[in-house]
Amino acid sequence: MNLTTPYMGLLLHSPLVASASPLTSELPKLLALQDAGAGAVVLPSLFAEQLEAQARRDEALSGAGAHNSPEAASYLPAPARHQLQAVQYIDLVRDASRQLAIPVIASLNGASVGSWVNYARQLEDAGAAALELNMYFVAADLSLDGRAVEQRYLDIVAAVRQRVRIPLAVKLSPYFSAPGHFAIELAGAGADALVLFNRFYQPDIDTVRLKIRKQLELSHPSEMRLPLLWIAILHGRINASLAASTGVHSADDVVQYLLAGADVVMTTSALLEHGVGHMRTLVDGLKQWLAQRDMDDLTRMRGLLAQGNCARPEEYQRANYIDILQGYQSTPAHNGQMPPVRHI
Ligand SMILES: Cc1cc2nc3c(=O)[nH]c(=O)nc-3n(C[C@H](O)[C@H](O)[C@H](O)COP(=O)(O)O)c2cc1C
Repeated sequence: MNLTTPYMGLLLHSPLVASASPLTSELPKLLALQDAGAGAVVLPSLFAEQLEAQARRDEALSGAGAHNSPEAASYLPAPARHQLQAVQYIDLVRDASRQLAIPVIASLNGASVGSWVNYARQLEDAGAAALELNMYFVAADLSLDGRAVEQRYLDIVAAVRQRVRIPLAVKLSPYFSAPGHFAIELAGAGADALVLFNRFYQPDIDTVRLKIRKQLELSHPSEMRLPLLWIAILHGRINASLAASTGVHSADDVVQYLLAGADVVMTTSALLEHGVGHMRTLVDGLKQWLAQRDMDDLTRMRGLLAQGNCARPEEYQRANYIDILQGYQSTPAHNGQMPPVRHI
């Protein structure tokens, strides 16, 4: 069975990719993911805030008197404990790139152009096969309009693109009024791949302690539907590879994303839940699905149900919405105990 997959100019032996998470922050786990069948790994992000705090520390320490004053350093912002520092991160990129046979994708995470974009070159020099750029920005400034937010993203992509030759993936949020058009603009600004979508970790309120709760919940397969919609719409219509991210827990989820037109399928929550070995379950399940249909590779199935290949392309648009709502109403009234399930 040949699962070879091109992804933003790289040739992967499998379309399954371990997305950025603590599981990809250590060499032994990266090697285990490779052994379990991952076609590539994305390292956890280096955050702009972290890099710029480091730059401020370095600058302050090199300033007059700072060398001679041990107290000076203690006034500076402490590096966040859980985050890999830049130097360690670059070492991880170097070690992982040397020791893994599969591509190692480094990740930078920022929300506006700043000195942090210069790290892109260092990650390339350390051996990263590609770079993933995660731009997590909440437009809480109410004077910003949609175009200004999009321009901010395009400026970051252009700034990073200028600094590296390796392929560049952009991990994108779904919160744009026209995600398809914006995806094309990102490709024009230099993105070789789009990762759909970034998962926003919205706040939750603790009503007893009257505080914002910061609790990370792992994803659920139902969260696949929004990325699946946009992958199906964009497949074959954009000059960039498409990576599906969010909600992949089973081999069936992998198959769905590939049928919609994803080039690669990423997973994190399922690996955190079931362990690194779950990667093997996903790869084997995909092979089994292909074997049952006498398919030797992914060419016939990829994008088979993309919007451009659908007999009823409107099923990815408003018609589907109307069908679903009206279908629910025309289902024989349920008795309040079991909600009806409709397969369309
Ligand atoms: C604990 C944890 C840490 C993560 N760290 C990063 C990160 O550093 N950079 C990033 O781009 N995404 C990060 N993610 C997001 C994942 O890469 C992925 O996009 C998200 O979990 C959705 O995929 P899933 O449904 O397969 O979990 C993290 C996710 C989790 C659960």
